[in-house]
Amino acid sequence: MDSIIVTGNGPLSGQIPIAGAKNACLTLMPATLLSDEPLTLTNAPRLSDIRTMTALLASLGAEVSSLQDGKVLAMSSHDLTSHKADYDIVRKMRASILVLGPMLARDGQAVVSLPGGCAIGARPVDLHLRALEALGAELDLRDGYVHAKAPGGLKGGVIEFPFVSVGATENALMAATLAKGTTVIRSAAKEPEIVDLALCLRKMGAQIEGEGTDTITVQGVDRLHGATHPVVTDRIELGTYMLDPSICGGEVELLGGKRDLVGAFCNKLDEAGIEVTETGRGLSVKRREDHIKAVDVTTEPFPGFPTDLQAQMMALLATADGVSVLEEKIFENRFMHAPELMRMGAKIDVHGGTATVTGVDRLKGAPVMATDLRASVSLILAGLAAEGATTVSRVYHLDRGYEHVVRKLQGVGALIERVPGA
Ligand code: EPZ
Repeated sequence: MDSIIVTGNGPLSGQIPIAGAKNACLTLMPATLLSDEPLTLTNAPRLSDIRTMTALLASLGAEVSSLQDGKVLAMSSHDLTSHKADYDIVRKMRASILVLGPMLARDGQAVVSLPGGCAIGARPVDLHLRALEALGAELDLRDGYVHAKAPGGLKGGVIEFPFVSVGATENALMAATLAKGTTVIRSAAKEPEIVDLALCLRKMGAQIEGEGTDTITVQGVDRLHGATHPVVTDRIELGTYMLDPSICGGEVELLGGKRDLVGAFCNKLDEAGIEVTETGRGLSVKRREDHIKAVDVTTEPFPGFPTDLQAQMMALLATADGVSVLEEKIFENRFMHAPELMRMGAKIDVHGGTATVTGVDRLKGAPVMATDLRASVSLILAGLAAEGATTVSRVYHLDRGYEHVVRKLQGVGALIERVPGA
């Protein structure tokens, strides 16, 4: 297994281009199942999760061509040969559950493996299933699979989520586009990835209102047609790289960055003493003073502070002036990076969903281990400012959500290299 070695090297400067969003692309790709006409995605990120979704769609009989060095995905599911999403693929990536709604809406049948557990939490899919039942689906959980039927097709209905779920909103939204009649989704997720999905579905002929609010209304149509759609900027990659100059000093411009994608995050950076400026090309980030201030953070659904930036923020706050309290409200086990940061000299106290971080002057390089996608990049961020070298192992986690991370960081002056595994 490859590892990444990063050595603290002082202030960073230059530009980093931000790619298309993994979490938008992973819901846009299954939308191809809703039509027998081609769907083309541009500005697609080059990530292992995208390759996994490509393999899943291909296993159903869809064609997915990766063009222009992987930035364009030309997809067609004219002739599906299977309606079964196999455990062997689904276990690699939970987002595979997002083929369930589209397949059911298209052909009235689907067999999808349950995703199983995950490092950051139990992550059940009960809300996805309740939503499809509200549209008339008949579900049977058997042998680790969801066997779903909709004889006569799905029917519009009212879906009331007890709390916000990004994935369940996406599955319900896609399914509702071909359901007969009107569907109302209440307590819907408002993430930019949901808005991007709705924009794409509308280009395919869907009738949708209210995306980006907590109530989405869909008028079902008989069929959807083809379209071409650019994947929205990755706000989590953006937020991650905004922390480079915040942690190390210097100034970095994030090309393609937009403030409204990371509003709550920018407010916290501002509180900590970090300046974010809009340029014509994106966002420019630098510290106001040499040191940053401690801040308290609570993760929430969008437009609140994103849980996918919590680990990275902890790496920043490890060397802040004072004590910061981080509350993780979305996932029950998302502090796996804390013990690794403590190996680098951080002072962190974790109790349940609360981590108390007492800032230290400087971290020290050490061998550390990545446990999940966002934890892995938080260790790299910490290593950028640490004394000496940090070796991060199990970086396959990183490949799931960050394209060309070593090249992008080298481009702004970081001392970082990838070392192939034995
Ligand atoms: C999406 O996951 C993202 N993944 C996650 O990003 C992100 O952390 C999460 O939304 C929250 O923003 C993708 O888009 C592929 P949820 P998702 O359904 O849809 C519980 C990353 O690092 N829940 O909003 O799975 C669930 O356990 C990843 O890129 C149920 O109980 O998240 C969690 O506690 C990690 N039952 C909470 O709701 C359900 O049926 C929010 O989950 C569904 C969810």
